Amino acid sequence: MEISTSILSVKKENAIQTFYNLEIAKTDYFHIDVMDGKFVAQDTSNLMLEYAQTIKHISNIPLDIHLMVENVENYLNEYLSLMPAYITIHYESFKNKTKLEETIRKIKQEGVKVGISIKPSTKVEEIKNYLHYLNLALVMTVEPGYGGQKFIEEMLPKIQELKLYSEKEELDYYIEVDGGINLDTIQKVRECGCDIAVVGSAIINSEDKKKMIQDLKSYKV
Ligand code: DX5
Ligand code: ZN
Repeated sequence: MEISTSILSVKKENAIQTFYNLEIAKTDYFHIDVMDGKFVAQDTSNLMLEYAQTIKHISNIPLDIHLMVENVENYLNEYLSLMPAYITIHYESFKNKTKLEETIRKIKQEGVKVGISIKPSTKVEEIKNYLHYLNLALVMTVEPGYGGQKFIEEMLPKIQELKLYSEKEELDYYIEVDGGINLDTIQKVRECGCDIAVVGSAIINSEDKKKMIQDLKSYKV
């Protein structure tokens, strides 16, 4: 399983040092939480663009972009130009499903892998039609908006459902899980079929980030 470290709560004064520490700690991705103050209350759009651009300059570790925004089009070009590993959009951002399909196509055409994320209240069933075209499905295990929230256990069956469906239909999307993941909760998401775990506070607040990432990855039976 891979670890994508969310840098949402990294303070500006420690940013460069923290990015460097995360690179040494061998995070698999930098997870960029783009929030617009509309889709969710917080607005992180300026800071996250600045962080993503900085990381692109100083690191070879790929970017994993999570767009929690109402108007995806406004943010797409600036992130596409950074050639991230993934751009993940929210299913709930699109009232017009033709627009959703167009956006998926646009991201893929630019050579970037595309994901769809679902909030806790959205069922896997709703995105089934799109899974054939996707590289990633992101299950939110907290309400999007803030780091440091408690993991919602009731989301585990969604991960299992996505795993079973990909096996049954022979699809090759990855399953990413985001929110409240720490040493206690990571085993459960892993057992359900998670491929990429997004981890924010558990890594950012730890003194020894390398050890934390190693511990998160080591499976304890
Ligand atoms: C929540 C974000 C998450 C979150 C992860 O809206 O998408 O990426 O910040 O942070 P932790 O691990 O602290 O829940
Ligand atoms: Zn996220």
